[in-house]
Amino acid sequence: MADLSSSYLGLPIRNPLVAASSPLTASLDSLKQLEDAGLGAVVLKSIFEEQIELDGLAALKDAEGYLGHTDGYEFIKAISMERQIDAYLALLEGAKKSLSIPVIASINCYRDGTWLEYAKRFINLGADAVELNYYVIGADPEKEGREMEKEFLQLVRSARKAIDVPLSLKIGSAYSSLANLLRRFDEEEVDGVVLFNRFYSPDIDIERMKMTQAQMISGKDEYALALRWVGLMSEEVRYDLIGATGIHSADSAIKLLLAGAKAVQLCSVLLKKGAGSAQKMLRDLEDWMKRHEFEDIEAFRGKLAKKYKSDGSQWTRVQYLKTMLEAQRM
Ligand SMILES: Cc1cc2nc3c(=O)[nH]c(=O)nc-3n(C[C@H](O)[C@H](O)[C@H](O)COP(=O)(O)O)c2cc1C
Repeated sequence: MADLSSSYLGLPIRNPLVAASSPLTASLDSLKQLEDAGLGAVVLKSIFEEQIELDGLAALKDAEGYLGHTDGYEFIKAISMERQIDAYLALLEGAKKSLSIPVIASINCYRDGTWLEYAKRFINLGADAVELNYYVIGADPEKEGREMEKEFLQLVRSARKAIDVPLSLKIGSAYSSLANLLRRFDEEEVDGVVLFNRFYSPDIDIERMKMTQAQMISGKDEYALALRWVGLMSEEVRYDLIGATGIHSADSAIKLLLAGAKAVQLCSVLLKKGAGSAQKMLRDLEDWMKRHEFEDIEAFRGKLAKKYKSDGSQWTRVQYLKTMLEAQRM
């Protein structure tokens, strides 16, 4: 039998398939199903700094008629925020009591601030690690990339100071020099970076001429972006790189591992095909390892990042020219 065990941000895991933060990781029943289906770890649904603040403000609006004192506003807002955090703490506590795989708390934050306090409470309740889900869309034409990245690094620095369990960052790919930013994270001593998050995108309904929401579920070819960047960077940073987005089968998971990912995160495949789909992925991974005579994950992890390290052009090539010339010759 092939040994599928690995580690994730330094935590031992029984295999490299991790349930990404999603509605599937927002209830105890569903978390239990994910563990029973064989997943190596779970990342809880994110608590959203922005949402907590907005809900706090909504609660204020509802209570408007009852508030005669300015302190009352702060009080109502704080109670509403506290309620959400309590619900999250209850989920985390339940998960830690009933699961034996690592449970990772997830915080969506967009600036240095109060969320650091939540992180400390999650750690006190036993969160095995904290994943920061950070993304700020660069939609301000006046703001320079350098300034945005500086703010991000400042936030990572504060997080690293406050969080004494393994810390990972889940990021998007839209940075002016992603390789440089990934190197800077190394200096901040993070334990892992998840490449990449897949964000809510707007779409347009052309009949009703209204904004709608784009497809939430990823396509099975979307792993290509993570594959390139994991392949390029896994030999360049000391922390774990974790592949995410578009990983729907053992084949794409194996590709990410060959490129050097320590593990992969799954969301759409679990939402679409159920938690049980992880069992088939694990069987297929094991069959592939047996066929290629790999006894454990480390026997092949990063094999292709190392092989192509001196010829980075395989990972950096972006033009189709050669492919088109080859097609013409056929
Ligand atoms: C309905 C839904 C809710 C999600 N909620 C979160 C979340 O709260 N926090 C987070 O970091 N990612 C969230 N994600 C992103 C997923 O964790 C994952 O990174 C993304 O879907 C890409 O992976 P996939 O291709 O396997 O779906 C969500 C995705 C979906 C579809």
